[in-house]
Amino acid sequence: MNRTMNRVLMAGVVCFTMASCTSIEMQGDYKVVPLPNEINLEAEATPFKLTKKTTVAYPEGNDLLKRDAEFLSQYVQQATGYALKTQALAEGQSLKSAITLALDPSIENTEGYTLTTTADGINITGKTAQGVFYGVQTLRKAIPAEAQGANIILPAGKITDAPRFGYRGMHLDVGRHFFSVDFVKEYIDLLALHNMNAFHWHLTEDQGWRIEIKKYPELTKVGSVRAQTLVGHLGRDSVYDGTPYGGFFTQEEAREIVAYAAERYINVIPEIDLPGHMLAALASYPELGCTGGPYKVAEEWGIFPDVLCIGNENAMVFLENVLGEICDIFPSKYIHIGGDEAPRVRWHDCPKCQARAKELGLKADKEHSIEDRLQSYCMARMEKYLNERGRQIIGWDEILEGDVAPNATVMSWRGVKGGIKASEMGHDVIMTPNTYCYFDYYQSEDKENEPLAIGGFLPIEKTYNYNPTEGLDEKAASHILGVQANVWTEYIGTEEYLEYMTLPRMDAISEVQWMQNDKKNYECFLKRVEKMRAFYDRDGKNYAKHIFQQTEKEAEK
Ligand code: ACM
Ligand code: ZN
Repeated sequence: MNRTMNRVLMAGVVCFTMASCTSIEMQGDYKVVPLPNEINLEAEATPFKLTKKTTVAYPEGNDLLKRDAEFLSQYVQQATGYALKTQALAEGQSLKSAITLALDPSIENTEGYTLTTTADGINITGKTAQGVFYGVQTLRKAIPAEAQGANIILPAGKITDAPRFGYRGMHLDVGRHFFSVDFVKEYIDLLALHNMNAFHWHLTEDQGWRIEIKKYPELTKVGSVRAQTLVGHLGRDSVYDGTPYGGFFTQEEAREIVAYAAERYINVIPEIDLPGHMLAALASYPELGCTGGPYKVAEEWGIFPDVLCIGNENAMVFLENVLGEICDIFPSKYIHIGGDEAPRVRWHDCPKCQARAKELGLKADKEHSIEDRLQSYCMARMEKYLNERGRQIIGWDEILEGDVAPNATVMSWRGVKGGIKASEMGHDVIMTPNTYCYFDYYQSEDKENEPLAIGGFLPIEKTYNYNPTEGLDEKAASHILGVQANVWTEYIGTEEYLEYMTLPRMDAISEVQWMQNDKKNYECFLKRVEKMRAFYDRDGKNYAKHIFQQTEKEAEK
């Protein structure tokens, strides 16, 4: 028996005419990941039968709902092999036995939706087309991943759903390792599958500058290529692979990704990490560093003392020009300007930096050095530049170590404390603590039998049980915009490995992002994530098997 058939039978299939199998029926199930807020099923009522004759209807003239309808048709085709017809409905017109998409301004949350199933059809209604899109995602996940040719029985009832957090993100570092446009799109598809709405794209690093900047062509000519790469962890007898490694996105490709994400209601937040993590830029334009170089694109991982010279006006103008082009490519309200891991040693010894500090009248105090204040000057200057262009900055929590740029949103990564402090100071915060959200960390303690990772230990259950507002009063909690998981790629050099580190931990973080904390239940999640596994199997994803092996072992007991 082939794998599809096996699953079909496991799912309680009824096949009336074996010859053509046209009447295969499979049961749908709305208990998906992330779990909708309220699912009120009517066990006694007749369910809806989705067949290849079902139409997806949308209001005439609404291009966004038309696109949502087309997505649904494609998703159904991926599962069943048949695409659903889509049809525009004139005002007042309705269609029987259809899936009807519509807007309802009385729904409170801009991302909320209701999904009502009766024998006569399914209605997915959102305050916005984005809300409807999440209803479409729920319906798509309710259909078994592999249901070739089957009719799908969807239980009658009503789902009322909306996310807990308005910011639901995943990050991807393409600096340490480069990933293709096609793969980035696949990654975005995974975000959509999990009802996420933010893709934080970490585009520049010591080990590679990955975005074309027209004013500074050397950034990609020189800065996108390192001569070789460290093998394994850095140590006394470090080995390098001797092979040049490079890659970058043209502005046209980046725009293509922005548009692809936008169709899926995902905002792309670019990150230009400054003023540290800039070796690739310094290798391209050595005059922008305090010492003048020579520099090379980094070949190993870590924190490097050579950073941009804050005292050099050309370096500040360089950053502004780069950010100017970034604003042209990325329509995002938020632009991430990094700010993490910028050592102060070069600034301390640099006459230009010290002259700048003097000119600005920067003073040290018990908590902050003059060099801390230089970093704050740089961040605040970039914030001003971006604010003038209608954008807002996000910075890593190091931006709290000085005079925080006034309108900055803080991304808390060194545990939760930075996020707590910033939210109590009245700053908006996105929680990405390494203690719960770093998907480059090992997911098993049996490290010998895992692919080499950067370190750490982050089992999926720990991610699942994270509550981003724990310990915060109501006011501070209101500043927590949301949650994101980060995927740093020092040790993640292939697409397969990236999938392994990301799935199914992405399922766990999606419930942290979407569900009310008191409704989360890990045991229940373990059952529901089995269905996501079927999607990953179908789509050839290399997901990690730890939790599935665990549940299989328990089932054998
Ligand atoms: C970071 O992980 N350096 C933000
Ligand atoms: Zn300097």
